[in-house]
Amino acid sequence: MPRPRSLPVPAAARHPSAAETLGPPPLIGGEARAGYETMLARVTEAVRPDGIIEEALASPEAAKAGCVVVGVHSGKELTPAARRLDQAARGAVRKALGDLSGKTGSTLLLRGLNGVAAERVLLVGLGEPKEFGEAQFRDALRGAANALKELEAKDAALFLVDTKVNSRPLSWNVRQAVLGMSEALYRFDNLKTQKKSNAPSLEQVVLPLSPASQLQDAVSEAAATADGAALARTLGNLPANICTPSYLAAEAQKIARHLKLGVEVLERKDMEKLGMGALLSVARASHQPPKLIVLRYSGAAKSRKPLVLVGKGITFDTGGISLKPAGEMDEMKFDMSGAAAVLGSVQALAAMKAPVNVIGIVPSCENMPGGAASKPGDIVTTLSGQTVEILNTDAEGRLILCDALTYAERYKPDVVVDIATLTGACVVALGHIATGLFANDEKLADELRAAADDAWDRVWPLPLWEEYQEQLRSNFADMANIGGRPAGAITAASFLARFAKKLRWAHLDIAGTAWKSGRDKGSTGRPVPLLVRFALRHAGRK
Ligand code: BES
Ligand code: MN
Ligand code: ZN
Repeated sequence: MPRPRSLPVPAAARHPSAAETLGPPPLIGGEARAGYETMLARVTEAVRPDGIIEEALASPEAAKAGCVVVGVHSGKELTPAARRLDQAARGAVRKALGDLSGKTGSTLLLRGLNGVAAERVLLVGLGEPKEFGEAQFRDALRGAANALKELEAKDAALFLVDTKVNSRPLSWNVRQAVLGMSEALYRFDNLKTQKKSNAPSLEQVVLPLSPASQLQDAVSEAAATADGAALARTLGNLPANICTPSYLAAEAQKIARHLKLGVEVLERKDMEKLGMGALLSVARASHQPPKLIVLRYSGAAKSRKPLVLVGKGITFDTGGISLKPAGEMDEMKFDMSGAAAVLGSVQALAAMKAPVNVIGIVPSCENMPGGAASKPGDIVTTLSGQTVEILNTDAEGRLILCDALTYAERYKPDVVVDIATLTGACVVALGHIATGLFANDEKLADELRAAADDAWDRVWPLPLWEEYQEQLRSNFADMANIGGRPAGAITAASFLARFAKKLRWAHLDIAGTAWKSGRDKGSTGRPVPLLVRFALRHAGRK
């Protein structure tokens, strides 16, 4: 008899304790915990000595879980799990369906059904069978997770996990279920003195599936990815007075310690010696020292060239002397989301012991105005030797990234991908759905697009044609750091391309996808799922 596997709620969801999880500064203090622990260690088998769970999981009516979760399509047709429950409860499920709104992800809780072992049954609307696809499956998962948060159930059996989604394999469902649950259960309330509600009592989510090794791999991969994404979210959500470049460096060192990774932190004087004039020009007016963080994980043979991930780590972007307007400026604490995604992805790949060599490079500083700040018209010499006229100090991301890209050359990379909240123009172009994708290699672009689709953490390509370079012309230096209003996301990428000539390189503009504004303001953890999936697929895992 196949053994089902159980899936505890990811640690990051149970203790999302921002600063408590993440160590310094002493402002909040507390024990360092979770976050880096590999989820692998916590994926346990749900087998009791009496073998009851095995039996129970095969049938929702017998499942000994605090809550049994089943999907129901609109119309009269029940999913197999719902039909079994309905039969066991003598039609009670069908009878209750009238109270479930037709919306995908809407839920209805039934309690104490006769003939059903579990105290609670959660029905989750799946919408019209004909319209059921990836987005609907994810909506259903989110709806289920949000309802489970409100219940007192300690554990839940997620029978809706095996609903067929277009031509996706079951491993896709498993990854989405783990990531979706973790995302919905994530909280960031450690900086509130009055917690809104008590911690959710949910401790474990069981995926009632046979333990095929592919599915087990999918669980491990997704659990580590979920932890990495939660780390990225927490770093993004932390305010800039806590999450400084030094904080990011300490965080990288902590990850390195826990997972035995290589780590180096370059200080200002190291950057001066190397000649990182562009990065240093951005950091000039800040009281926080800049850091260039390198985090290395080797999971493959030494002879295999590494994947290098470069993440923009502006811990706050005021715009500098080209000061931003006041409205929503607080959101510029998220301007280190690329850096957070790099740290989260490297952590995830290391935690799951992925067969890849990956190096994360994070150039990090604040972009501040002040007496020492760079001024419009200033000309700096980059690490590559090329000179740049800084016509707008708010176009700072490309200035720190260009030196980091040149620095990446020394690792003789197979591929370099940079991730950056680079331009407001990318938000105008693609909104909050797709990340902007640029590459100087067609095949790499295709690989990233396929990985993004697989992870459902999607990207869309924009052109990097030579003709756009003209917009970066400067009268006084090799190039200007801005290209005018037209095609702002493309000219920013075109600037970076000048520093990636020796690399197989792609650039992800995550300005629209790294965080949400408004009532749900907060980091999304994107594109950690994409980066992890890409690294694995690129290394041959499907
Ligand atoms: N971090 C911003 C980009 C950004 C702005 C992301 C708003 C998300 C929301 C970046 O450093 C920036 O300021 N870019 C400028 C570039 C411009 C001066 C050429 C922009 O997009 O306005
Ligand atoms: Mn800026
Ligand atoms: Zn910025």
